[in-house]
Amino acid sequence: MKTVLTKEQLDEGVSRLAAETQEFYLGKPITIIGVLTGSIMLVADLVRRVDLPLRIGFVQASSYRGTATTPGELVIKLETLPDLRAQHVLIVDDIFDTGHTMKGLVEMLKKQEPTTLRTMVLLRKHGRKEVNLEPDHVGFEIPNEFVVGYGLDYRDLYRNLPHLGALEPHEIG
Ligand code: IMP
Ligand code: MG
Repeated sequence: MKTVLTKEQLDEGVSRLAAETQEFYLGKPITIIGVLTGSIMLVADLVRRVDLPLRIGFVQASSYRGTATTPGELVIKLETLPDLRAQHVLIVDDIFDTGHTMKGLVEMLKKQEPTTLRTMVLLRKHGRKEVNLEPDHVGFEIPNEFVVGYGLDYRDLYRNLPHLGALEPHEIG
């Protein structure tokens, strides 16, 4: 497996995202909504570097992929979501690939009438976007490769890698 981003590079990217968050919200209380399961590392590392009154919630989104590269139907589970009405909400996900997951989440969470709703991703894959939505905060732009580690999985493995690696085409189905 090839290394795409080292532990040190990820650390620097998360610090940059934390600084952006703090500058953008200027002391206002925010609610961070992590997208399970891929965002757990980012959320855990991010929130410790953001000096704002903040709440944390999670939502589960899965796109039941037939293969690693073709997204399937998006299923969003809202059971674990806190009340978002009149909150400044920031959705945090691991990766923006086609963008269907983020777009679906934005549409779903808007219904709860947050005061503001913004989006953050650690990674944005180059040349894959299929929706008319841009993430507001992006840690890194990466080439179109299937990546794992730092929360991201292939068939539920590799999430615990401290760096980001790319699987070779013959390693993914
Ligand atoms: P999208 O809906 O196509 O933007 O895909 C977003 C979701 O697909 C992410 O939340 C990830 O769970 C998953 N995903 C997309 N690309 C990768 C990848 O390279 N590695 C691991 N998961 C990925
Ligand atoms: Mg995901």
